[in-house]
Amino acid sequence: RRAAIFISGRGSNMRSLVEAARAPDYPAEIALVLSNRPEAEGLAYARALGVQTAAVDHKIYAGRMEFEKSVQILLDLHRIELICLAGFMRLLTPGFVRAWDGRLLNIHPALLPAYRGLHTHERALADGVKIHGCTVHFVVPEMDEGPIIAQAAVAVLNDDTPDTLAARVLAQEHVIYPAALAAVATGRVHVAGNRTRLDDSHQ
Ligand code: GRF
Repeated sequence: RRAAIFISGRGSNMRSLVEAARAPDYPAEIALVLSNRPEAEGLAYARALGVQTAAVDHKIYAGRMEFEKSVQILLDLHRIELICLAGFMRLLTPGFVRAWDGRLLNIHPALLPAYRGLHTHERALADGVKIHGCTVHFVVPEMDEGPIIAQAAVAVLNDDTPDTLAARVLAQEHVIYPAALAAVATGRVHVAGNRTRLDDSHQ
């Protein structure tokens, strides 16, 4: 399956997906890396690896719909079948999300439904939770909601700061996102309401 990754910045999750997809038996090809910020650091990395990239600067568009129209044209041109949001900091319209229903994934640095939104590590530490983590989920119009595909838990340590906790969570993000994309790309993830079921009868 041909996948696109949407980024806005550093792109370390994009990198883990591109690296995983280089394995000959990986079921998805990263056919496009798209950023809404032309200066996103991740774009240079993707280009250096020979991955097709595109920058669609949201600031030059009159609104979200116009921006997404350009994005959709690129997705069509590159015959994209799956989208992974990876640190993509633009909200997508319900129309776009619905058009990609079941084919649009996101990674969030918390154990959803806890800590939707930003500054998840700071908030987890402030609440004193002992378990934190990350989630890959299908995107629905509501932010940081949608059927959960994969999660990884990380223990919060006594002397954690937001940065040290973020780093350990990020290491887990890099494990579960390639696994989740592979499962979706092989059609092994079935959605029923808010729940997904991983069918591992084949592969
Ligand atoms: C990650 O923590 C991801 O979970 C969140 O934004 C961050 C992006 O980091 N959505 P990177 O650009 O993949 O390095």
